[in-house]
Amino acid sequence: MLTLAQIAAEPELLTWRLRLGDGTAAALRPLEHGDARGLAAFLGGLSAETRRLSTYDGYDLAAARELCAAIARYDKLRLVLEVDSGAVAGLVEFSLAIMPDDMARYGAAGIRLGERTDVRFGITLADAWQGRGVGTAVFPLVEEVARRLGRSRIILWGGVLADNPRALRFYEKNGFRRVGAFTDSGGRASIDMIREPV
Ligand SMILES: CC(C)(COP(=O)(O)OP(=O)(O)OC[C@H]1O[C@@H](n2cnc3c(N)ncnc32)[C@H](O)[C@@H]1OP(=O)(O)O)[C@@H](O)C(=O)NCCC(=O)NCCS
Repeated sequence: MLTLAQIAAEPELLTWRLRLGDGTAAALRPLEHGDARGLAAFLGGLSAETRRLSTYDGYDLAAARELCAAIARYDKLRLVLEVDSGAVAGLVEFSLAIMPDDMARYGAAGIRLGERTDVRFGITLADAWQGRGVGTAVFPLVEEVARRLGRSRIILWGGVLADNPRALRFYEKNGFRRVGAFTDSGGRASIDMIREPV
């Protein structure tokens, strides 16, 4: 089972090369300290609608530097999808921590979450790469990362907004099921989803 410190020291442990649907060569690899500018370009390029669907603390170089500074310091693992031009086309995030609110909501649905079994996951693609099968191409690697982190189930980090039909379809097509509805801290209708081992 890999630790965040091991991954930071040897990012190639979780690095894969893949071809996107249109033939573009890409790599999925852990975020590294030198990625701040590329990550800032990715965050800064997200449209208002993508920011609504997938919200970050900030979208500028300072926000990107904070994400880089967090490498192996807390409970988070972030990977970037880098296309052959060197641009960041997506950000894939995992959290090894399960929050009391998550435990309560899933518990009410009869699912006992725990840090030995579950990992939280979120994904955001750059606008130009959305709706082209890229998320689905990357998903087997998401499962592999969870497995290498020693977690058998994947839950959505913060759930998914009820009015995000593409993400709902993407998750369901990749093996997630709906657990229940809740209202997020901003008062928005959201849905919890879990992917259990098949
Ligand atoms: C959600 C996201 C990661 C999915 O990745 P993706 O590469 O766009 O998804 P895919 O193309 O692999 O799959 C999308 C599926 O939804 C379908 N779809 C697209 N728009 C849809 C809509 N309005 N309603 C229903 N289904 C829709 C597609 O047809 C496809 O299904 P299919 O393969 O059966 O035809 C990506 O769109 C994204 O980053 N969106 C913005 C940020 C976001 O919403 N993140 C998730 C927050 S919880």
